[in-house]
Amino acid sequence: MPLVFAAATNHGPGITARRDTAPPEEVTPFFEGWERLHQRMEAANLDALVMISSDHIQNLYMDNMPAFIIGLGDSFPGPTEDEHFLKIPKTIIPGVPDLAASIADEVMETIDLAYSGELALDHGFMVPLHFLTPAYDVPVIPFIVNCMFPPYPKLGRSYELGRALRRAIDKQSQRIGLLGTGGLSHWPAAPLSGKVAVDWDKDFLEAMVANRREDLTRYSDAEIERDGGPGGHEIRSWIAVAGACEGSGGKLDFYTALPSFAIGGAVVEMAVA
Ligand SMILES: [Fe+2]
Repeated sequence: MPLVFAAATNHGPGITARRDTAPPEEVTPFFEGWERLHQRMEAANLDALVMISSDHIQNLYMDNMPAFIIGLGDSFPGPTEDEHFLKIPKTIIPGVPDLAASIADEVMETIDLAYSGELALDHGFMVPLHFLTPAYDVPVIPFIVNCMFPPYPKLGRSYELGRALRRAIDKQSQRIGLLGTGGLSHWPAAPLSGKVAVDWDKDFLEAMVANRREDLTRYSDAEIERDGGPGGHEIRSWIAVAGACEGSGGKLDFYTALPSFAIGGAVVEMAVA
C-alpha cells in the first residue's frame, strides 16, 4: 500500500524535561499542535511508523559513524537517557523486523544503508512517540541520519534517502507512516542554548512546504552551523521526508519559537498522494 502519512516535527529533550517549568503561554501552542498531529496519526490507522532522527551519541560513536542506519530489531528499548531527567519512563518499543528488512532491501537498490538489530531509542524517537503514539502500540522502524559529526551526509543524499524510502514503502502491503524529527534551529548544550533563529526556521519551512528540493538542499554545513546552530543539521530528517513526498507539497500546522525548550518548534504534514 502506498505511504499513508508523512510529517516532520521536533524532538528536543526539553519538550518533556522542562515542560513543567516552561511558561504555559509559550509552550501551549506547541503541545496543542502535537495533539492535532497525534489525532491525525491515529486516524491514519498505521500498521508501522518509519521514524528518521539523529542519534545523540547513544548508539553511534566516532569509531564507526554511518551516514544512514536502519534498525531491524524486533523491539527497541528507550529512552536511553535518565528517565527522571527526560520524564519518560523506560519501556520497550515494538519493532517489525520482517517489514524493516524488506524496506531496507528495496532502499539498498539506490542507497547503501548500515543496519543494526540492537538500536536503542533516545529522545530523538521517544519524545515524539510519548505524545504521538502514547500507548506505544504502533511498531517503529527507526532510521538514524548522522547529524552529529562531520563529514555529514550531504543534504541531497538525505533527499535521495527519502525517495528510496518512498519506493520501498509503496511496495509493502501494510499501512505505513513516515515521521522525521529534529531541529529546527537550535544550539544544544552550547553557550547559545535557547537561541532560536526564527527567520532561518521560517525560510526552511517555506521551502519544505513547497517541497523545493533545490532550496531545501542548498545550505552548506558551515551555513547550517552559523545560521541554524549545531542542532540545525537535523534538517536532514525533514529533507528525507520531503524526498519521500517528491512532487507533493505540505502544510505547515504551526511554527513557534520555544526558547524554554531551546528549539524552533513546528509541524509540517506532507501530502502523500
Ligand atoms: Fe536532536
